[in-house]
Amino acid sequence: MEFKEVVYKRRSNRFLSDKPLKQEDLDYILEIAQRAPVGMGKYEWTRLVLLEGDALKRVQQEFVKEIGKDVSYGGSALIYILHKGASEAIDNLDGGAIAEHICLAAAEKDIGNVFLWSVTRTKENKVINDLLQKQEDEKIIAAVTLGYKASEEVRDISHKIEILKVK
Ligand SMILES: Cc1cc2nc3c(=O)[nH]c(=O)nc-3n(C[C@H](O)[C@H](O)[C@H](O)COP(=O)(O)O)c2cc1C
Repeated sequence: MEFKEVVYKRRSNRFLSDKPLKQEDLDYILEIAQRAPVGMGKYEWTRLVLLEGDALKRVQQEFVKEIGKDVSYGGSALIYILHKGASEAIDNLDGGAIAEHICLAAAEKDIGNVFLWSVTRTKENKVINDLLQKQEDEKIIAAVTLGYKASEEVRDISHKIEILKVK
């Protein structure tokens, strides 16, 4: 698939099935995630946690308990991005680069995906943090939810970002 086709195919799909993803597709997505650029090349500052099966269900239950809804939209895999850098800007930028790589890789495989900041709303949740084996010096930056699409529906939004061209 052409790169531009993948970019246009990547949309946040919030109707996700809980059918497990193919192992080879998950492995591919994680491999692409690891190729994201990070500030100063400090890959050791970031850690990804892949949640599936019972662990994912426990987390989804905690979302409902604490936020009132499953912010991962169902799905069968949730990749958390944790970071222990010294600068909040670098933490978030690294997380963004990694999350976007995950979303694009998922889109290429026709797997529904949503970049989630909302998971930071449960950052103090002990059940979730224990499952993530979160260390004292780590912060939850974001997550990406993944699942086969239960519907093709996506939000009707414009992707126009203003561009000033200066010569
Ligand atoms: C930094 C960031 C945080 C986001 N957090 C959430 C979120 O918590 N929940 C959600 O449903 N979508 C979230 N999104 C998805 C955006 O709403 C979505 O990417 C945007 O509206 C563009 O739509 P598209 O992904 O379909 O192209 C997030 C996206 C980004 C880049």
